[in-house]
Amino acid sequence: MTQVIAVANHKGGCGKTTTVVNLAAEFARMGLSVLVVDMDPQANASLHLGKKHPSEVPVTTAELLLAEVEKLPSAIYEDNHIPGVGLIYGSLQLGKAEDELKDETPRPSEELRQKLAPLMGLYDVILIDCPPSLKLLTSNALAASSQLIIPIESGSQYGLYGVTDLLRHVQRIRRINPQLELLGALLVKHDERQTVCRLIEGAAREQIGKLLPVRIPTSTRVNQAAMAQTSLHSLDRSAKVAREFRALAQLIATQLALNPRAPTEETETNDQDVQES
Ligand SMILES: Nc1ncnc2c1ncn2[C@@H]1O[C@H](COP(=O)(O)OP(=O)(O)O)[C@@H](O)[C@H]1O
Ligand SMILES: [Mg+2]
Repeated sequence: MTQVIAVANHKGGCGKTTTVVNLAAEFARMGLSVLVVDMDPQANASLHLGKKHPSEVPVTTAELLLAEVEKLPSAIYEDNHIPGVGLIYGSLQLGKAEDELKDETPRPSEELRQKLAPLMGLYDVILIDCPPSLKLLTSNALAASSQLIIPIESGSQYGLYGVTDLLRHVQRIRRINPQLELLGALLVKHDERQTVCRLIEGAAREQIGKLLPVRIPTSTRVNQAAMAQTSLHSLDRSAKVAREFRALAQLIATQLALNPRAPTEETETNDQDVQES
């Protein structure tokens, strides 16, 4: 079965898009079939992954949400900057789509789930990048998902600001999507040596209850990879940040019993003897 993983936190800049893009890249390298669904009007995941500018794409998540399900095939782009990662683009139109959903649909939170239903079984994993708000776009993402990752910026004293609102929102969505499970909070820009990071780690464990056992360090590689429209692995597979995303993907694949097919050539190269960076 397809696992649908939402990466959500209404706090901006906490690492949602970076997590979606690099997890997608790692899952694809494992030989899993992967689709990224961009639900953010800022379309950062689309700008990173896509070969087109979001404004030139006729069917993005905005149109898909409001259209009939027949539009689905024309929304999916398979040829993107990161090999093996499919994409449904996001666009600025999502803001307008959100308003229209609210006014014109009987079950406004369930449109995405309905639109993605034909893909269940076709992809191994679908990753949904959420916008920095708790409104309908995020509700749609959560209602369409089986799993949730909450990135938390651990280097910021405000990293957990608003997280109780998010958890309350998740509880509400569970009324329409009882399958939604929390994979865990993911500490991003984490540095064990910093007091603020250790404090946020403790508070996150207490408030969210579940922490993923991988910590994503701060690295200039993250911006470089986005600029180069590539994955952290392709940019510098030996960098600690790349290795942590690899470890995270492996952990999730094991936990969710995602079964990779034959590994791609790239995965067979010497990943073991990488250096700390
Ligand atoms: N581990 C990291 N180290 C350094 N910079 C990071 C890291 N993760 C994210 N960033 C940077 O922080 C900014 C916000 O990250 P992003 O993934 O876009 O967050 P969100 O999608 O939650 O807004 C981006 O400029 C990104 O390059
Ligand atoms: Mg983002």
